[in-house]
Amino acid sequence: MDDQGRFTSDPFSLGVASGDPLPDSVILWTRLVPEPFKRGGGMPDRRVPVQWTVAADEDMREIVQTGEVFAQPEHAHSVHVDVTGLESNTEYYYQFRTGGRQSSVGRTKTAPAPNARLDEFSFAFASCQAWYNGFYTAYKYMADDELDLIIHLGDYIYEYGIGPNGGERNTSVPQVYRTEPKTLDRYRLQYGLYKSDPNLQAAHASAPWIVTFDDHEVDNNWADEDPQDPDKQSVREFLQRRANGLQAYFEHMPLRPSRMPDGPDMPVYRNFTFGDLAEFNILDTRQYRSDQACGGGAKKDCKERLDPSRTILGDAQEEWLLDNLGNSTATWDIIANQVLMAEMDFERGPEEALSMDKWDGYIADRDRVLTTFEQEVRNPVVITGDFHRNFANNLKKDFDDPDSATIGTEFIGTSISSGKNGTEMDDFGRRILAENEHIKYHNAQRGYVRCTLTPDQWQTDYQVVPYVTDPGAPIHTDASFVVKDGNPGLQER
Ligand SMILES: [Fe+2]
Repeated sequence: MDDQGRFTSDPFSLGVASGDPLPDSVILWTRLVPEPFKRGGGMPDRRVPVQWTVAADEDMREIVQTGEVFAQPEHAHSVHVDVTGLESNTEYYYQFRTGGRQSSVGRTKTAPAPNARLDEFSFAFASCQAWYNGFYTAYKYMADDELDLIIHLGDYIYEYGIGPNGGERNTSVPQVYRTEPKTLDRYRLQYGLYKSDPNLQAAHASAPWIVTFDDHEVDNNWADEDPQDPDKQSVREFLQRRANGLQAYFEHMPLRPSRMPDGPDMPVYRNFTFGDLAEFNILDTRQYRSDQACGGGAKKDCKERLDPSRTILGDAQEEWLLDNLGNSTATWDIIANQVLMAEMDFERGPEEALSMDKWDGYIADRDRVLTTFEQEVRNPVVITGDFHRNFANNLKKDFDDPDSATIGTEFIGTSISSGKNGTEMDDFGRRILAENEHIKYHNAQRGYVRCTLTPDQWQTDYQVVPYVTDPGAPIHTDASFVVKDGNPGLQER
């Protein structure tokens, strides 16, 4: 930035985004950061005015609203503009301007009015994008889909240091990236690198996003106040780290200002309604959960997981969720969640090994959610990230009894890049399908999941790319499933 307040290089290096759509409003996001790979981002330590424009057309001629906000240094010069007074179920375009520069144009869409009749709604969900594991090619195709909504289920970044050659990206990464993020500055740098990917930027600019975080936005497998390695981080140190990680997360996501963290606490669980067709409950399964039972990992005969006082949601979130599910009048009630809800036996033969980081380690909460599904919800559907594999599950009243009624459906989406190229099938996938009657599909390639909802039917398409370690992969639909209104469970298409 020069003395006249003009930028000598592009301050919109991380693109633009929109999110948390309501019938009359949407959040517009950008961050001024001409040098995203440098501490401080190349910005002066003062507030900088940013002008925004919302238009009805992509060429930004039919202007609907304009305004000005200040990008503040204490928020890394990010802006979260709450544009209000918009028409429901309407496409808009937006653009930012500052210091003689303008951003690219983003597309967004408001939600339909509550209870408005909606014939079709299409969204995609994604998770897990280890930058150094490969290219975000899947996002290029997601951007082309012109969706009503995109949901991110967490692991938007990973809290690991990055090598000099950027892993599979094979590109030079500055020295400042070698260490693990712990400070606010260092987490901000991580977002600078991850969000520099042009396909990720294209997906953000293509539709409104609703986001929630999982563990790696802070620390692997953290639970409430417990870090991955309590011997290396005291609770006090971890809570400061959690505050830093969540602050940087907020600064880089198109979230409402009401979601801003207060120290280590971030109010992120929330719900969204799209006409009479869909209601989304966006969960937080990290901030309020009991520590992983029996030391975490896949465990046999872990009695602790059955303890009724254990929780993955916490009391307040659970009450909120069960109330929403019970009161909803939508055709489709969706739980957008981080970790696998269905039971999954990892062990060959009659013995059972279950993962203590997933809902299998939190049986009391799962039983109450599934009971509510059975008794009060017309069409419950769970969408899930974290696993770096695609699965499609029938949710059962009793997972160990194949004759038990199917009471809901779970779609688990693979990673965008985490785990490198992956493969269609492997020994692990074969074992999971053989040991778990209710799990009907597996694929371990990279990609995203696209869902098209109508009043009669839900359709899920598993979109996968054959490789991510080189750019430019093609995409194809590996499998599609439908769920019929009033008939929980998967039907192959
Ligand atoms: Fe992940």
